[in-house]
Amino acid sequence: MNGIKITVLFGETTVEQQHECYTLAASAWGSYLDDDEVVAKEKYLRTQSLARDGGCRTWCLYRQDDHSQVISTCKTFRRDFLLGSTEGVSEAKGSCITSVFTALLYRGHGLASYMLQNVAQWLDGPGDVVVSMLYSGIPHFYENLGWTTLPNTEIILSNNPWLQDVLDIYADLKVRSLSDADIKELCAQDIGLLRADIQFTDINPKRSRLTILPKANLVRYQHAFADFMGDLLHFNAPQNRGAAYEDQARLYWYHDFRGRCLYIQRVHNAIQEEERGPDIIAALLLSAFRETKGWNFTQVATWDTSLDVRHALDKLVRQVSSRDPCWRATERKEYLYTGGAARRQWPT
Ligand SMILES: CC(C)(COP(=O)(O)OP(=O)(O)OC[C@H]1O[C@@H](n2cnc3c(N)ncnc32)[C@H](O)[C@@H]1OP(=O)(O)O)[C@@H](O)C(=O)NCCC(=O)NCCS
Repeated sequence: MNGIKITVLFGETTVEQQHECYTLAASAWGSYLDDDEVVAKEKYLRTQSLARDGGCRTWCLYRQDDHSQVISTCKTFRRDFLLGSTEGVSEAKGSCITSVFTALLYRGHGLASYMLQNVAQWLDGPGDVVVSMLYSGIPHFYENLGWTTLPNTEIILSNNPWLQDVLDIYADLKVRSLSDADIKELCAQDIGLLRADIQFTDINPKRSRLTILPKANLVRYQHAFADFMGDLLHFNAPQNRGAAYEDQARLYWYHDFRGRCLYIQRVHNAIQEEERGPDIIAALLLSAFRETKGWNFTQVATWDTSLDVRHALDKLVRQVSSRDPCWRATERKEYLYTGGAARRQWPT
């Protein structure tokens, strides 16, 4: 750099480097928190079951002449997948890469690329990971490193003033709230249903079908993050984790306090009376909006863009069609990548 040669080393962070990594990453994503809060948040999240026992690892590049000087960092989280192929359905150990960051002064020298190549080697080797994924807004950076971009659609529903008038239109449908106590059992049920779904889906022999398993520890991790932020900003952690209609339909969510958005994590629909389906899902979506009201959030988002969800949205749109401003569902592209060993093992 500027004629000076700097040697960097790669490794999993030591306890001493951990703090440095947290504050580095905080400068990119955590500007809404001060340094102490970022460290407290990271320490709290590390106690969650998803992160324990190597479930979350922090990696870094640091200067050889001063190990406390971290230059680039990222995290890997264990993520479990279900893999469906013509040979059957099996669980696959995967990883999700997050918080990729290089200190401003050192950017553009190939450091993040070098770090990610080393992380990939670890994942492919000792990590024993068969597929890796990440979400990003800068696809070219990852494509240059050999990752594959997959389009991913998100529906964002804005919380408009007219909503207050329609919140009770499905008062006759008995919708109950979901709490922490429900999550473990519901996740187990959802995993069973996904397994059955993949098993009975015709799979093109040239393709594999990969699904992220909605394990309770993953769902709970997002809840734990929400609890930390709720406590910090409102002295109160969210209690409502979702809504259910009998045992036929449900959705669960987490609170994104930074984006003031309620993110729907999962929608389950096994409604027996088909013609009532859209009304029931619409009633559950209205429960989500009722929840946003309590926290002064501005939107609800879902990555479930199935026909069930779309029909329910159409239903709600019709309820307010005479009003202005009207409900708008906007779609946004995100990116999902598979890389690492997946590239070698599966053509698609
Ligand atoms: C993205 C980031 C990690 C790259 O770090 P780096 O050490 O400079 O990366 P490298 O030197 O290995 O690679 C730089 C390449 O990334 C590209 N890149 C960097 N930031 C980019 C951006 N915001 N959009 C598109 N491309 C970007 C550069 O154009 C360069 O490409 P080139 O080699 O073809 O010129 C760094 O810019 C950063 O920390 N950004 C802020 C946090 C962030 O956005 N992280 C990614 C979240 S998924």
